[in-house]
Amino acid sequence: MATTDESASDFSTRVTQQLVGGIAGMGVAIGMETGLFEMMIAMGESKKTSQEIADLANMKERYVREWLGCMAAANIVNFDPTEGTFWLPSHRSNIMDLKALAMTAPVLQGGFFQVADCFRKDGPRGVAYGKYPKFDELMAMTQGVFFQDHLIQEFIPSMPHLHQQLQNGIVVLDIGCCEGVSTTTMAKEFPKSHFHGLDLSQPALATARDTASAMGLSNVEFVHADISLMPPDWTDKFDYLFMNFVLHDLAYTAKALQDMYRVLKPGGTLSVVETTAHGKLKDNLAVPDRDSVVVDYMYSLMNCMPTSLYHEGGAGLGSMWGRENVRVALEEAEFQVISMTDVPSESGLHFMCQKATNA
Ligand SMILES: C[S@@+](CC[C@H](N)C(=O)[O-])C[C@H]1O[C@@H](n2cnc3c(N)ncnc32)[C@H](O)[C@@H]1O
Repeated sequence: MATTDESASDFSTRVTQQLVGGIAGMGVAIGMETGLFEMMIAMGESKKTSQEIADLANMKERYVREWLGCMAAANIVNFDPTEGTFWLPSHRSNIMDLKALAMTAPVLQGGFFQVADCFRKDGPRGVAYGKYPKFDELMAMTQGVFFQDHLIQEFIPSMPHLHQQLQNGIVVLDIGCCEGVSTTTMAKEFPKSHFHGLDLSQPALATARDTASAMGLSNVEFVHADISLMPPDWTDKFDYLFMNFVLHDLAYTAKALQDMYRVLKPGGTLSVVETTAHGKLKDNLAVPDRDSVVVDYMYSLMNCMPTSLYHEGGAGLGSMWGRENVRVALEEAEFQVISMTDVPSESGLHFMCQKATNA
């Protein structure tokens, strides 16, 4: 609706709907986190009382009943008042496809009050990464579809020279690998290549190591290190650097890019994936569907920016930093930006770069 045509009451109705949606979304997220939706999907359309559902799920009936009431009111679960039974219609069994989106608000809310405090002039600089419980899991979920269905199938083949090198055997660094989904996916596909995943989050690395060992991979290792301060003996070590949605999060971006340049072999390839955002708000608002823009700005405000600003002198770029600025930063670090292409499966932008062969 054009804001000029909007009455005060239209505005209030619209914002009320957004706020109620946010509250109902907490209920959806609870159903996902507890496993109740998965259980109701497994029930098919058989109608059950709250007691029967709680027993099946091995949960407390009082909690399950309140959740079912909320989900019935939100028209997500159906309710038969005569029988006092609940069921999830089969056409709604795709609700689990929305899990990453549903979990976004509860995870970002981990830092809610601290972020609000940061606004004050005398408030804290930022928020520690560890203040967001299950953030690593959310990342693995959010990027999971890209890593599992597109990374090997389309993303790497879009760089034929690299695809061939990976098949022949090269050394790769996945920078900010989090729980290592991208690292292990690539390591499985390219057994002759050797993969390093690097991150600052110890819990994420522990999960990554467990995954690699469950997959029986011997060509992957995970390293706890800061991107801006990688081991001195890594100079010119890697043929390929992969960095997915990390650059804007960093406290010391220029320093990190300098170190990335150092560890990449001359002639090596760097893939940086960032959001599709532009540097100017007016460009970000000029899209027909603003939903993903809202989500991206909220990610930036609630996590990316405050976790970077938490560090003394942190850049606080945020995920809406903008493609124009990403390109400048890459070029200032002496990378040659060969191409910028959309990664449609995750609304990202792929900056494919090279380090000159004579560097
Ligand atoms: C937004 S997550 C992206 C994770 C993963 N690449 C993905 O696409 O799901 C950013 C990751 O960068 C890591 N990170 C942030 N700053 C870092 C630093 N200075 N050194 C190493 N890792 C860092 C975080 O721990 C987190 O796992």
